[in-house]
Amino acid sequence: MMDFHKFDDDILSPFRVEKERQDEETLRPRKTDEFVGQRPVVDQLKLFISAARQRRESLDHVLLYGPPGLGKTTLAHIIANEMDVDIKCTSGPVLERKDDLAAILTALKDGDVLFVDEVHRLSRIVEECLYPAMEDFRLDIIIGEGPHARSIQLDLPRFTLIGATTRAGMLTSPLRTRFGITCRLQFYTSEEMFEIVRRNSRILKVECDDEGGWEIARRSRGTPRITNRLLRRVRDYTQVRGDGRINGQVARDALAMFEVDNLGLDIMDRMYLTTIMDKFGGGPVGLNTIGVALGEDTETIEDIFEPFLIQIGFLNRTPRGRVVTPLAYNHFGRRPSSSASPDLFTS
Ligand SMILES: Nc1ncnc2c1ncn2[C@@H]1O[C@H](COP(=O)(O)OP(=O)(O)O)[C@@H](O)[C@H]1O
Ligand SMILES: [Mg+2]
Repeated sequence: MMDFHKFDDDILSPFRVEKERQDEETLRPRKTDEFVGQRPVVDQLKLFISAARQRRESLDHVLLYGPPGLGKTTLAHIIANEMDVDIKCTSGPVLERKDDLAAILTALKDGDVLFVDEVHRLSRIVEECLYPAMEDFRLDIIIGEGPHARSIQLDLPRFTLIGATTRAGMLTSPLRTRFGITCRLQFYTSEEMFEIVRRNSRILKVECDDEGGWEIARRSRGTPRITNRLLRRVRDYTQVRGDGRINGQVARDALAMFEVDNLGLDIMDRMYLTTIMDKFGGGPVGLNTIGVALGEDTETIEDIFEPFLIQIGFLNRTPRGRVVTPLAYNHFGRRPSSSASPDLFTS
């Protein structure tokens, strides 16, 4: 599933690599004021947080969704921080049994946040237990076995569930409707990415001029986790090959060496697009077929490659399959081949 990718080490992978953990902790914004961008989401959350605080109530359950690396985990921590409550973190696949959930829920205090990452991957049983827990703050559990078994109801603290998912569409509707607040994170603009580069170079104490900052910002696929990684790699580069400072030339040289192109596309993106162009005449071609051709699972393709390519107008999802756009052909210095897929033009 989603946990193992052959490009996990890839410089543009939005997934976190274990060794990056510590750096990421130092770079992670702690307060809404430090959180760059996502204004509509942040403004909404601030409002709900102050309202809940004024009423001295717990915050309504929050669902955060959007592609990996855009700040879902960060926001969950910020919410807990600004509500001034504790946060417990877990994830859908980890909460296997009802007992796991019961153990976590009963250890919470009033107002605490339970953060469930990959909430679309909860098991059926656990999910069904969550419904009454979210709605009425109670848990039905069965004690004993066989003829002596009896069901009792446990009262739970008034906790806030924050769920994060890359795909809201995979959530069952009973679960989705139990979140009072739903926030969709968007890819960041280059201005926002630039601000993040500046903030992070200050924290990492590396000198980075505006031109260097822009080079990194605009190749980061609108994804803060990627900016953080590119910045660190460019820092490594200049430490060894330069004078420890980052300017436009250093950033361009470093990123060329890491095979990140001027739009931030990496080898896997290029393979994805050129496969559709070369083998399928630019599309339309079905997701499963692409998956087989690339040897990559469809969930990864849908979550990692496609959102950004769609965002920059290189790819369309149509009912008949994926279609590479003329803009993408242009980027690769090619022309769409009209002979390869005649039905593209007749339908
Ligand atoms: N709005 C933001 N401003 C600054 N840095 C951010 C922002 N969002 C995310 N980051 C950085 O990106 C990293 C990845 O964010 P994270 O919350 O783990 O993403 P997700 O949970 O959506 O995959 C964080 O460690 C943080 O340093
Ligand atoms: Mg996360």
